[in-house]
Amino acid sequence: MKNPDQSDVLAGISPQVFMRDYWQKKPLLIRQAIPNMQPLITRQALFELAAQSDVESRLVTGDGFQQPWQLRTGPFKPRQLPALKLSHWTLLVQGADLHSDALAKLRERFRFIPDARLDDVMVSYASDGGGVGPHFDSYDVFLLQAHGQRRWRIGAQKNLSLRDDLPLKILARFKPTQTWLLEPGDMLYLPPQYAHEGVAVGECMTYSIGFKAETDQSMGAALISRLADFEPVKPPVTYSDPYQLATRQPARIPVALQAFARESVLQMLQRDADIRCALGEWLSEPKSQVWFDSRPRPRQLAGVCLDRKTQMLYDQDFVFINGESWRCKGQDAHLLRQLADRRRLDSSDIQDASPKVRQLLMEWLEAGWLNSLPAKKGK
Ligand code: SIN
Ligand code: CO
Repeated sequence: MKNPDQSDVLAGISPQVFMRDYWQKKPLLIRQAIPNMQPLITRQALFELAAQSDVESRLVTGDGFQQPWQLRTGPFKPRQLPALKLSHWTLLVQGADLHSDALAKLRERFRFIPDARLDDVMVSYASDGGGVGPHFDSYDVFLLQAHGQRRWRIGAQKNLSLRDDLPLKILARFKPTQTWLLEPGDMLYLPPQYAHEGVAVGECMTYSIGFKAETDQSMGAALISRLADFEPVKPPVTYSDPYQLATRQPARIPVALQAFARESVLQMLQRDADIRCALGEWLSEPKSQVWFDSRPRPRQLAGVCLDRKTQMLYDQDFVFINGESWRCKGQDAHLLRQLADRRRLDSSDIQDASPKVRQLLMEWLEAGWLNSLPAKKGK
């Protein structure tokens, strides 16, 4: 299914070819990925975001030669930022798509990649010569030049050791093999662990559309702790040891207790549907700094769209929205999956919705997770 908001951002390369030949494999420079690119957020609006306490921002100054690298974390009042005429500084604002409809719309262009992989859109503003130094990211990233020019140098080096004397992650030995000057609308895709450095040539703004990938350790830890909070599938069994012998080593943990512990964990891991449910809830959980403004219950239900901060996913049994899950099937599942994939439902889609789905949509509107679509004119 082609999402209505998903337009071409690969300059003629099909999403299928991109995923097969480049995604997680090798870099790709896309000239004029967005022709006639205009910045989607002004410098002023970006500075205002960086002043907010619920927005993650960083300021990097220096060049690693004349001036040492320095890192400060926000929020920053505008007067705490260096003067615009000073060179070699960069302001980086994480999750800017949560605060701007235009940046949230940009995110939609990348929905040929599953939503579960998307992290955020980071916006950087740099004065002439500004950059964050040679480094690598553990994320796949699309670096879209939004305003001004940036020179990117990249290299496929295996040696990713970092300097240990600096406040930011800077490669000890950067060996670039390719250099490009990106103009507004140009975009560079980099797979994880690919060494790169971007330096502003004059004032510039860059958008990083970043894709997260969890380690087995962090995912395992998050899911196990969620599973523990789920309703047990069978009555709990309490450890008992009627055959415990008198011991001369009272501090030693009994082997039978170790076996019981192992069995308890193994039983949890057998709950396949619960694991999938925990995964969907976890993946759709809003970041800690995100909150929604609740509003009065709407009088009637017409077309709806997901708020730009809402994360909605689904699997074969459940629909997940902002960290909560609903088991649903049949027509209800069909409609809610449509909402998740298209991020909107028109009033004609909702017309035949079941009372259960109508009730859910009303609740989500009230919670600020959904917004009402403007009524169509002439009707
Ligand atoms: C930047 O936008 O300045 C840095 C982006 C990156 O290198 O990951
Ligand atoms: Co990077």
